[in-house]
Amino acid sequence: MSDIEIFDEVLDNLPVLAKQNPDSVKERLSGLFLDFLELSHLYDSAIEVVKTYLNILDSEFNVKFQRNPIHNIESRLKSPQSIIGKLQKKDLPLTAGAARKNLLDIAGIRVTCYYISDIYAIVEMLCHRDDFTLIKQKDYIKNPKPSGYRSYHLIVNVPVYLSAKKSYAPVEIQIRTIAMDFWASLEHQLKYKPSAAITPEISEELKECAERIAETDLQMQRIFMEINNLD
Ligand code: GTP
Ligand code: MG
Repeated sequence: MSDIEIFDEVLDNLPVLAKQNPDSVKERLSGLFLDFLELSHLYDSAIEVVKTYLNILDSEFNVKFQRNPIHNIESRLKSPQSIIGKLQKKDLPLTAGAARKNLLDIAGIRVTCYYISDIYAIVEMLCHRDDFTLIKQKDYIKNPKPSGYRSYHLIVNVPVYLSAKKSYAPVEIQIRTIAMDFWASLEHQLKYKPSAAITPEISEELKECAERIAETDLQMQRIFMEINNLD
């Protein structure tokens, strides 16, 4: 029986199935459960590795330049339900192995910075760590999405030292300014409400807001450079 079938059958008809073949169902489910538990632990640990590094960079900046580039760091681990949902959508086996191989956004970190230049400084430092491997990189600041969305996206493969081995897990890192985050949070809230009627005119208006915010970000950056006599 495939993993998809076993999940569906168990969910649809648990008591009957458990009576027919209780041991195999239990064994299979507990195996899957343990695999997912191990997966969650690995990805959660990878998040901690990246967050620790970001906090070290932030405090080092403070020591050297008397200011912090990072305003806030948030993280989230995709829940087993949404991992399974995504695997199902992609027609993949419902296993931890398939999740590791195919999903790159199980571990997510969002970093909000003060200035655009801080984003590029953080990106540079993340990319230059020789134990982090860059998997994917998208600059939605230089090339905003059609919606107006701006952020820098990175996926890095991060080593996690476990008791008996070194494992790797990909972590998706979104880096943006406070202003970009303000727009993205509101736009997300507006768009993803089931009852929201987003007309093309409203999308255009949201895009205009993103552009105005981007201009303000640039202006603030210029003021910061001017005040600090930077080029
Ligand atoms: P792909 O290679 O196309 O997968 O690009 P990507 O992974 O860099 O971006 P993707 O479109 O998959 O979006 C990843 C995440 O970025 C989403 O889960 C959102 O958090 C954020 N994001 C992307 N586009 C938008 C947008 O238009 N509005 C908002 N608010 N967030 C967005
Ligand atoms: Mg994506």
